[in-house]
Amino acid sequence: MNVIVNRRRFLRNAAFTAALFSTPGLFADQLTQTPRQTEGPFYPNHLPLDTDNDLLVINEGVTPAVGEVTYVSGRILDAKGDPIRGALVEIWQCDNNGAYLHTGTTNADKRDKNFQGFGRFITGSSGEYLFRTIKPVPYPGRSPHIHYKIKRAGKELLTTQCYIKGHQGNEKDGIWRSLKDEKQRSSVTVDFAPLKGAKAGELAAKFDVVLGVTPEA
Ligand SMILES: [Fe+2]
Repeated sequence: MNVIVNRRRFLRNAAFTAALFSTPGLFADQLTQTPRQTEGPFYPNHLPLDTDNDLLVINEGVTPAVGEVTYVSGRILDAKGDPIRGALVEIWQCDNNGAYLHTGTTNADKRDKNFQGFGRFITGSSGEYLFRTIKPVPYPGRSPHIHYKIKRAGKELLTTQCYIKGHQGNEKDGIWRSLKDEKQRSSVTVDFAPLKGAKAGELAAKFDVVLGVTPEA
């Protein structure tokens, strides 16, 4: 009797498993939680006068920062893939000369005074964020990257970094390489591609962030 029951259960399970595998995209669609990456030593130790989402211009400045103009956007999602409203997205990165907005930065004497270096955006109900900034450049020891910090209701939810897909420096970057899982790597390594219809060669990059938590409302 037991044998028959077990055999039936096995068949049911086998049928279930086959159904999963024969449904294209079911696993591919599963969300990869964005991996945590080190904050590094250059989170600004003095904030710029302007902390909006346009890093190319400080306040009413006339001269824009030097670099390849890039629109970086994406969505902040919870573990179930639902958008997170009211998430504070902070980014920071070095300027086109490899200098951070930090007193300990290298190349301080070459720092681009017109680059904001840091920006903030608070998501609405769609979870979307947008920054105008420059395409990140390498500096000694690091492949190009943009630092991210996601906060909500005063709590830090995630600190990570975003990289350029296809950049040769990634394979040599110890922090990028510390991500051993292929899905995790690709979740933080995104295309910087020409923005459709852009007249001045602007680029666009899309970086969605999937948190491992569902924050309380
Ligand atoms: Fe960095």
